[in-house]
Amino acid sequence: PRVKSWDFPYLYQYQGFWYATKYLHGIISFQKHFQAKDTDIILATFPKSGTIWLKTLTFNIVNRSRYTSENTPLLTKSPHDLVPFLDIHIYGRNQSSTLEDLPTPRTLATHLPYSSLPPSIISSNCRIVYLCRNPLDQFISYWHFAPKIRNQAIMEPISIDEAFEMLCQGVQCFGPIWDHMLGYWKASLEKPDKILFLKYEDLQEDIISCLKKLADFLGYPFTDEEEIRGVIEEISKFSSFDNMKNLELNQFGTLASSGIENKMFFRKGKVGDWTNYLSPSMSKRLEKVMAEKLGQSPGLMTFKF
Ligand code: A3P
Repeated sequence: PRVKSWDFPYLYQYQGFWYATKYLHGIISFQKHFQAKDTDIILATFPKSGTIWLKTLTFNIVNRSRYTSENTPLLTKSPHDLVPFLDIHIYGRNQSSTLEDLPTPRTLATHLPYSSLPPSIISSNCRIVYLCRNPLDQFISYWHFAPKIRNQAIMEPISIDEAFEMLCQGVQCFGPIWDHMLGYWKASLEKPDKILFLKYEDLQEDIISCLKKLADFLGYPFTDEEEIRGVIEEISKFSSFDNMKNLELNQFGTLASSGIENKMFFRKGKVGDWTNYLSPSMSKRLEKVMAEKLGQSPGLMTFKF
């Protein structure tokens, strides 16, 4: 089945999730051909959940013996180019040969739901980190981002109420968002050594604890000596919204992979910005839908509506 959408002209349903036509080739090729290595790190997110933040934090943790904030490649390359998306970039642009040249551990990303991941990601010992975000904030972030990537010439304008209605029906590229979260949530409970489930709101509240948790999980724990030297604080500061947004690269650069302006990935970086755009009755409506879908998982259903 296919539906008309507001972010892309049409979305197609594939394996229970909605996708823009232009992504399907890359997704299917990724599913068919990707061979995970035990050392791989896969960062999985729903779009606009803070993917670029997770990429920055992970890159900094894993490469901290090679680089500091003074000489990190993150000063000259976007996190999206250093930690590429397997589905929409690598396989979507027939660049799978570049996977062989990546240093170990390969740090890679995907927006695919857990149930659609390639078999070798599930069967290998690679690790998966999932970052989720309050769907109301995700929606507002996407509401601002989508018009910049969609083909304005062929698409009609849409009201925020209509777009919100589609969200409540689960119709969004890579959605339904609740099924996306739930798949990784359940898998993280079943396989805690393989899948780490993080929340954007927790990162905002206590980045230091989250950094330690992430480093432990990835097998790169901070040593006592590093703690004394303030390495965790340095990573947290470098990766912060204000620092990343203000880097010259992110003010003026474009993505090597797609040509999109880097500055589009840094808007406000706040929790609760949805209150500036959505009415209380809209938030109640989504809360009801989410409660129905995630009611059995109270640990996941912690978002403020
Ligand atoms: P907002 O539009 O609400 O500001 P993604 O990387 O998945 O596309 O998500 C982008 C969202 O994460 C945007 O949200 C962006 O501002 C926010 N973001 C980017 N870098 C961040 C950082 N270092 N800290 C906090 N939020 C960040």
